Amino acid sequence: MGIRLHMSRTLLVTSALPYANGSIHLGHMVEHIQTDIWVRHQRMRGHTVYLICADDTHGTPVMLAAEAQGITPEQMIDKARREHMQDFAGFHIAHDLYYSTHSPETREYASEIYNRLKAAGLIRVRPIEQLYDPVRNMFLPDRFIKGECPRCHAKDQYGDNCEVCGASYAPTEMIDPVSVVSGARPVERTSEHHFFALGECETFLRQWTRSGTIPVEAANKLDEWFKSGLTDWDISRDKPYFGFEIPGAPDKFFYVWLDAPIGYIGTFKKLATDRGLDFDAFWEKDSSTELYHFIGKDILYFHSLFWPAMLESAGYRTPTQLFVHGFLTVNGQKMSKSRGSFITASNYLKHLDPEYLRYYYAAKLNASMDDIDLNLDDFVARVNSDLVGKYVNIASRTAGFITKRFEGVLATTLTETAVPLIHRFYAEAGAIADLYDAREYGKALREIMVLADAANQFVDGIKPWDLARDVARNDELQQVCTACLEIFRLLTLFLKPVLPVLAEKVEAFLDIPALSWSDAHAGAAMLGHHIKPYQHLITRVDPKKIEALVTASQETLIAETPAPSPAAPTLPPVADTIGIDDFSRIDLRVARIVAAEAVVEADKLLKLTLDIGVGQRTVFAGIKSAYTPEQLVGRLTVMVANLSPRKMRFGESQGMVLAAGDGTGLYLLSPDSGATPGLRIK
Ligand code: 2FM
Ligand code: ZN
Repeated sequence: MGIRLHMSRTLLVTSALPYANGSIHLGHMVEHIQTDIWVRHQRMRGHTVYLICADDTHGTPVMLAAEAQGITPEQMIDKARREHMQDFAGFHIAHDLYYSTHSPETREYASEIYNRLKAAGLIRVRPIEQLYDPVRNMFLPDRFIKGECPRCHAKDQYGDNCEVCGASYAPTEMIDPVSVVSGARPVERTSEHHFFALGECETFLRQWTRSGTIPVEAANKLDEWFKSGLTDWDISRDKPYFGFEIPGAPDKFFYVWLDAPIGYIGTFKKLATDRGLDFDAFWEKDSSTELYHFIGKDILYFHSLFWPAMLESAGYRTPTQLFVHGFLTVNGQKMSKSRGSFITASNYLKHLDPEYLRYYYAAKLNASMDDIDLNLDDFVARVNSDLVGKYVNIASRTAGFITKRFEGVLATTLTETAVPLIHRFYAEAGAIADLYDAREYGKALREIMVLADAANQFVDGIKPWDLARDVARNDELQQVCTACLEIFRLLTLFLKPVLPVLAEKVEAFLDIPALSWSDAHAGAAMLGHHIKPYQHLITRVDPKKIEALVTASQETLIAETPAPSPAAPTLPPVADTIGIDDFSRIDLRVARIVAAEAVVEADKLLKLTLDIGVGQRTVFAGIKSAYTPEQLVGRLTVMVANLSPRKMRFGESQGMVLAAGDGTGLYLLSPDSGATPGLRIK
């Protein structure tokens, strides 16, 4: 089966909008690479595809993180967007536009949709009681409250659920709740909230979710949600909040999850304005264009219930399909900062070629919601064996002869023995394209590598280097190498959605126009064609670079203050006041440094052995830039003795020593002379 012809289609494709208050990491990249491969494939099929994305900018975490950094939220999201755009460009993600939800367009559509929902009688307003921080004068989102679990009494749990016993509860049920923002004890306070009456859309949603729009395994999950009943969705937040004010409701703001998906519309509106596209044709009810959202399974609820319900009720088209993927694990485990497996996109790009990861993810991806694992040893083996050993090898072993012996000109006929093989390539192009279409990238790459294996067997059997020694077989040599390069052209075409930059280099070397699926036939074979001299295409993955990447990912954590997560904003320049009780929970001890050594694999770390009177502790401290081990041995310092131990690649760190620093200097704290190890600081 060759390539089937399709009518040209117009597709609008999105990836989930990343939060502006965090870095892009390899977990995000699973989705963005998956999306990009699909989009590139569709473009190679001749369809018109718009790929858009944006930063998801609103909410309390952004507001507090900006405040902590002493900048405005606008400044913070601008910086984040620049960084995110750079990360995505680094991985060759072919966005038509990477915008922001904090845009006039998204504001306009958020208001518009809200007004239409209101006109349809689907907005309800009623008072609710929530925890309020009396010091910061703000309502507290669940993740900004900590306290004791009402069920198992574990301390230090978040306001929505307990990580120890798994209980879910309302923050108002917690024992001894504390505001993470100010440390104050929250009080209960009432305010009016706006709700979207999701339950009214149940009939529509039951039908929509069973009409091929979401994977069957996801629809089964939804059945559980239908069973437990669709409740009203709280779409408003009180000031102070970084977001869009609700029209006609002063001091009330849209909850970030209301305007986030509307960001898909707002972003497309901006693109349509810039490019002169017909916006309505994409979003009107009976649009003939197609709309696809790539998302992770964690946000299925928002995209399969709230989002289609809002669109349908407000008179817009609904998505053609949701493509739902699983999570990323690294070496079989959840990404972890202490293991060095929480790898940011920018850190990866400092050490390794983005196309290695594109290839590896593609090899692992399929259309299911299963998690995928990045196994770092397997990554090295797979990339080296497939890309260097099987794919590029075909060109590197044959192209030189064409340049040196035939002035760069390919034969006008192919060697007889290669014809059946090449025809197999043409014949399988359609099946491979269909696998890309179905997001079965792993299967597609396996098919492609089976073909590459066959091609290598052909080269090994015919041994062009032997032919090259016999002038009488000159024509045969040219025809054999021509066949191999035609095979290489086809392999490049098949891999192009995954390896777009490598494919571009190959197109330049073969001196051919940009490859697309319509070039997978005999009529496009490069007979009598002139090619450029072969140039090095790809380097083997060096396992040392992986080690360096892991070490760097681990160090970032120690050398810098922890990245502000939605749950834990960094403190303001001078921290809010805390009570003496909070302070006395920290066990600060005088410690003597009895041994110190450099951690060879880490630029910034020293391993310290500390005597704290009651015994010895090991601490990994990020102070290598300021002290040599010799300077430290025998010295007194101050240690946080009751910090939970942290597993690191080099061992367990059992506390922390106190040092002051502003990024330029670093100063270890010491008590006055006379202090003895183990003394408690009060
Ligand atoms: O889960 C997230 O990372 C969200 N920022 C995704 C939003 S997707 C869309 F709805 F905007
Ligand atoms: Zn509990």
